[in-house]
Amino acid sequence: MAVIIGIVAVDQNGAIGKGGAIPWRYPSDLKFFKARTSGHACVMGRRTWLSLQKRPLPDRLNIVLSRTADFAASPGGVVLRDKEAILSLRPYLACDLFVIGGEQVYRSFLPEIERWIVTEIPLAVEDADTFMPKNFLDGFSEMETRAVEDGLRIVTYQKIA
Ligand SMILES: NC(=O)c1ccc[n+]([C@@H]2O[C@H](COP(=O)([O-])OP(=O)(O)OC[C@H]3O[C@@H](n4cnc5c(N)ncnc54)[C@H](OP(=O)(O)O)[C@@H]3O)[C@@H](O)[C@H]2O)c1
Repeated sequence: MAVIIGIVAVDQNGAIGKGGAIPWRYPSDLKFFKARTSGHACVMGRRTWLSLQKRPLPDRLNIVLSRTADFAASPGGVVLRDKEAILSLRPYLACDLFVIGGEQVYRSFLPEIERWIVTEIPLAVEDADTFMPKNFLDGFSEMETRAVEDGLRIVTYQKIA
């Protein structure tokens, strides 16, 4: 069955967003994100989808969560209305299910996420407005750390059984 994996980049204060966007750009992290998620399903909130500006993530199933009745994702995105609809697909997916944000969607999936992949961004962004839920890694243990270019560390955490 599909493994449910949260993937996120956080700054030194746990910030993930500012003004509807990600307030940094590290090619090494983008490259890692693409390589790790390609061929898999990616679940995102409506706001994160809108930040892609009608460019669905290529080679991935783009699932967009929204309760807004008249919201239809532009081509390339499948809109589902609640977490349960996504979880009902899980047994039929021949790939993993990546929860790719933003904060609201990470928070919704906290009980289901089995693994976290966290890129540690060596910045403290001023006036960030979106943060990871505190203690999101409670109940997880570090499994693997890799250093990539630009001074970033990417740490994988596994849920303690
Ligand atoms: N650093 C990172 O790795 C990273 C990754 C992703 C995003 N981000 C940033 O995070 C920010 C966006 O985060 P956000 O929390 O504001 O928004 P979000 O989670 O992307 O989207 C929120 C919207 O998604 C829908 N939604 C969320 N949970 C739902 C649920 N359980 N069931 C049904 N619909 C649900 C709702 O849409 P409706 O209002 O239509 O109902 C909600 O308003 C942006 O700044 C983005 O760039 C950062």
